[in-house]
Amino acid sequence: MNKKYWLPVAIGIAALGACDSGSNTPQKTISTMTGVDVKRALDAKQIVQGEQLYKEHCAGCHGAKAEGNPNWRTATTQGKYLPPPLNGTGREWHSSRTQLHNHIKYGSEFGKGDMPGFQNKLTDQQITAVMAWFQSLWPDQLYAEWVTKHTVGNVFVDESYQKQQ
Ligand code: HEC
Repeated sequence: MNKKYWLPVAIGIAALGACDSGSNTPQKTISTMTGVDVKRALDAKQIVQGEQLYKEHCAGCHGAKAEGNPNWRTATTQGKYLPPPLNGTGREWHSSRTQLHNHIKYGSEFGKGDMPGFQNKLTDQQITAVMAWFQSLWPDQLYAEWVTKHTVGNVFVDESYQKQQ
């Protein structure tokens, strides 16, 4: 091959490898200690949208970097909880996708905290974008653990759906 064609061809192959069958969302594969590979997609457009919505609606309570209130573990004198981190350092990754989504849509369970529901302010698509943003802050291994925790066989299982059935 003529030398001057090498570079564009190499870039083309790299770009193909980074794309998820036709879409523009780059996917990376995370190897885990269990030997199961987890695919992680990071949709830059969705993450930017989510970040803007987060700043507008959530940062005031959960912190600019989703670091939460330092005392999130301890109930207040009224028995309520303060905004926890959403950046992967709290307990948020124990919840399934639907549980997180519903928490944002409907707010705190009665008496547990003072988070309002966002069902009149954010569409489901916007909630998904906010989640994509704060999940983009989670380290790869934590993200992989979250996916594995909610996966049986090859299927992503949602605990809250299971409970309803
Ligand atoms: C008025 C303050 C306030 C605002 C605004 C707020 N939250 Fe919360 N959030 C809380 C509090 C307090 C808790 C902890 C109590 C509870 O479990 O409901 C919480 C809990 C959560 C949880 C559960 C985390 C876990 O570890 O189980 C998620 C997810 C969440 N918030 C996401 C969001 C998102 C996304 C937004 C913006 C769309 C938002 N919150 C806006 C106060 C707030």
